[in-house]
Amino acid sequence: MPFDSARFPIRRPRRLRSHPRLRDLVREQRLTVDDLIYPLFVHHGRGLRREIASMPGQFQLSLDRLGEMVAEVEALKIPGVLLFGIPEHKDATGSGASADSGIVQEAVRQIKRQAPGLLVITDVCFCEYTDHGHCGPLLTGPDGRVDVDNDATLPLLAEQAVSHARAGADVVAPSGMMDGMVAAIRAGLDEAGFAGLPVLSYAAKFASAYYGPFRDAAGSAPSFGDRRSYQMDPANGDEAIREVALDLAEGADLVMVKPALAYLDIVRRVKERFGVPVAAYNVSGEYAMIKAAAANGWVDERRIVLETLTGFKRAGADMILTYHALDAARWLEEG
Ligand code: PBG
Ligand code: ZN
Repeated sequence: MPFDSARFPIRRPRRLRSHPRLRDLVREQRLTVDDLIYPLFVHHGRGLRREIASMPGQFQLSLDRLGEMVAEVEALKIPGVLLFGIPEHKDATGSGASADSGIVQEAVRQIKRQAPGLLVITDVCFCEYTDHGHCGPLLTGPDGRVDVDNDATLPLLAEQAVSHARAGADVVAPSGMMDGMVAAIRAGLDEAGFAGLPVLSYAAKFASAYYGPFRDAAGSAPSFGDRRSYQMDPANGDEAIREVALDLAEGADLVMVKPALAYLDIVRRVKERFGVPVAAYNVSGEYAMIKAAAANGWVDERRIVLETLTGFKRAGADMILTYHALDAARWLEEG
């Protein structure tokens, strides 16, 4: 049967797509540099600017090479950085993580001297500091299973967060998915006189294969087993909502969903349900996939990065942690 336009009048949404200026006017989301946070890997030693093989364009930096990077971040008007530390010494409890002279603490002080206006967020966890690579000290259960000792980790997390605060961190971001971690850190900060310091909780963090390159970057791969007893099952959305609710009840000021790309439904649900600031972490494996495809000439890197980051915003993210931050800031500046 021939198409009968009298019976089925054609609706024409394309009218809004014909004129470029009209497309600009009806655009719903605008990615800006103000949405971006740049993760940095601060490494012990001197003179080190080592490119991470699985993350082309990202570097492990020693303190004396950090300044040039911070200057670049500032020049591009990126609002904040997220710091990970790679210490010289590791032990069973990750004691180096809370030292006032630790790698992250030194980095925070140095950045604050150089760029007082830059927002400095610190990752609060132990996996870079333990010799076994898990996110806290271990305990052998009655069944013989070795697992992170949740409750023994809590005071250590508070101690680490306070040491970051004393160094001058603006926000602390616990990433270990321990039960009660936000409450413990909040209490520790309050008691130490940092009641005004916000906590960005990695509230819905999934046990993801997308973290592969990061574990090379941060030297934090678990030496045995995996993180499935503390990070979430990728299949679970309702549970993510419960995790976020708990962290907010414990005093989280901002919440993160991680990874971002395969979890955009979680970003959207958290935003709609709680209406709190939501961060999406565009993780190492997501970065690596785009870089690899772009290096092969299979995708247009600029377009695919900006499209991806815009998608995070459309899903409901208020801020995006991304290794693409420097490139994206440059591209956004060019317009
Ligand atoms: C460790 C931590 C991880 C990331 C941030 N903090 C890795 C992990 O859980 O193994 C991942 C970041 C990335 O992949 O970019 N608590
Ligand atoms: Zn960890």
